[in-house]
Amino acid sequence: MSITLTDVTCIVVTISTLWWDANGQCKEPRETSKLNLSVTYNLPHFVLDAPVQKLLVFNGSVYVGITNKLVALSGDLKKIQEYKTGPVHEGPQCNACEGCRDRPPNANNTSMALLMETYYDPELFSCGTAGNGVCSRHLLEDGELGVDVNCMGSHNNDGSRYIAGPAGTQIVNVEVGGVVRFFVANSEPLNSSLPSSPRLHHTISIRKMWETQDRFEFVSEHSYMDLAPGLRGNYPLHYVYSFQSGAYVYFLTVQREGGTSKAFHTRIVRTCSSDLELLHYVEMPFECIYSEKGRRKRSTQMVFNILQAAHVAKAGSDLRRDMDLKEDDDVLFAAFARSRPDSPEPTASSTVCVISVAKINSFFKDFIQKGHTKPLYHFTGSEEKPYNQTSFGCGKHEKGYRLEVTRTRPPEDWFNGRFRNVLLTSIAVVPIHDHTVATLGTADGRVIQ
Ligand SMILES: *[C@@H]1O[C@H](CO)[C@@H](O)[C@H](O)[C@H]1NC(C)=O
Ligand SMILES: *[C@@H]1O[C@H](CO)[C@@H](O)[C@H](O)[C@H]1NC(C)=O
Ligand SMILES: *[C@@H]1O[C@H](CO)[C@@H](O)[C@H](O)[C@H]1NC(C)=O
Ligand SMILES: *[C@@H]1O[C@H](CO)[C@@H](O)[C@H](O)[C@H]1NC(C)=O
Ligand SMILES: *[C@@H]1O[C@H](CO)[C@@H](O)[C@H](O)[C@H]1NC(C)=O
Ligand SMILES: *[C@@H]1O[C@H](CO)[C@@H](O)[C@H](O)[C@H]1NC(C)=O
Repeated sequence: MSITLTDVTCIVVTISTLWWDANGQCKEPRETSKLNLSVTYNLPHFVLDAPVQKLLVFNGSVYVGITNKLVALSGDLKKIQEYKTGPVHEGPQCNACEGCRDRPPNANNTSMALLMETYYDPELFSCGTAGNGVCSRHLLEDGELGVDVNCMGSHNNDGSRYIAGPAGTQIVNVEVGGVVRFFVANSEPLNSSLPSSPRLHHTISIRKMWETQDRFEFVSEHSYMDLAPGLRGNYPLHYVYSFQSGAYVYFLTVQREGGTSKAFHTRIVRTCSSDLELLHYVEMPFECIYSEKGRRKRSTQMVFNILQAAHVAKAGSDLRRDMDLKEDDDVLFAAFARSRPDSPEPTASSTVCVISVAKINSFFKDFIQKGHTKPLYHFTGSEEKPYNQTSFGCGKHEKGYRLEVTRTRPPEDWFNGRFRNVLLTSIAVVPIHDHTVATLGTADGRVIQ
């Protein structure tokens, strides 16, 4: 198969499932390049003995979360260090942080989240499935993982230590007024015949570190939202991606179109990073459209409804020109697939849409002001309010709002339908000099840049 790309600068293909940015390889001219997907290019690589669950790059090192291990690699992908996180012995009498050390292991510890926090010190947070999703904090000294490690919450018992739910977790850390907040969103299984998470895990919650930095606490008594009673276990909800931009924290979800609808779509969720109680909360449908110009003027529209992966980055000057953006504008790159009818299951047909976060915010503002909203279906504590406010930002003077926008204006496919026969599963974007380089991963393990 051969694909022609015109608006990306270089192309890398590999059959490895473990990948990262290969800046050094980007020497192709901006002119049209031909991509031969049956060729394997030689990239620096490192082979782990288990599938990569989480991956993070910081200060030239690569941190990888796999079952029962965290691995640190150097920039040229040599192993620096390995830190054991399991298996552990779990049981009702056992400590969440340590399990029962004197008993033989009975549970693997799958890596569920990996994030970097640098406001105080360089700290790597990692969360696994063991201990109902407790996390550890690694103070990185010269990139070393094992020198100073705390399990977050071996000695508090208010539930704030249970971070990662079994169906998947997204975490955003944001510094607000000298305090770091952790926004955590826990998925519900998309396949509702699988067991739902125990009620230990809030659907959305906000935490900060205790002064001693060895445990979490909620930022307020009401700093969480849970699925409405009765929906738990019966409402597939997948948090696919999360990010911070300006005054807001965003989550991208895949869920049902409506309460009783069987069809699935993607939503953008926005909340204020300064809000202690998630009282400035709004959701909006988000899909990607590909219009094919037919021979006889007729154009057919294809809707890509299921988000597979996303990435927020600054645009290179090429894209800034094309999209009329400012230098520090955040841009969302989103890889979508078409689903099977009435199912969240993706088919091998994908596309990438690109939209600036400023534009997303202007859609939110527009639709709310025009009254295209309704109360949330799936969360408790949402009520119909008079939405007659003039602004819906994060100001203290504003009344709270928790609502769902009923309209959307979908962005258009960025790659002119080039991925109509491919299932894209990952995306990362870096501006390199003047260009915006997107690295796309496919379901069969290829990486396209
Ligand atoms: C792609 O690469 C394969 C393997 O090198 C080669 O056999 C094939 O002819 C190439 N296809 C095109 C269209 O260049
Ligand atoms: C842990 O993982 C290993 C390797 O995948 C597997 O053989 C073993 O059965 C797992 N143990 C438990 C308790 O699930
Ligand atoms: C499980 O692994 C995570 C990292 O993936 C770690 O933070 C956590 O402390 C481990 N849990 C236990 C009980 O060892
Ligand atoms: C970044 O890496 C350099 C070189 O390895 C090291 O000296 C420095 O301490 C690291 N900085 C941080 C913040 O970890
Ligand atoms: C849901 O999970 C059940 C049990 O693992 C499985 O039999 C079924 O095929 C799954 N359904 C879908 C749509 O994946
Ligand atoms: C919203 O404002 C309009 C015009 O100021 C007013 O007529 C209407 O009654 C208000 N609606 C609510 C729900 O307050």
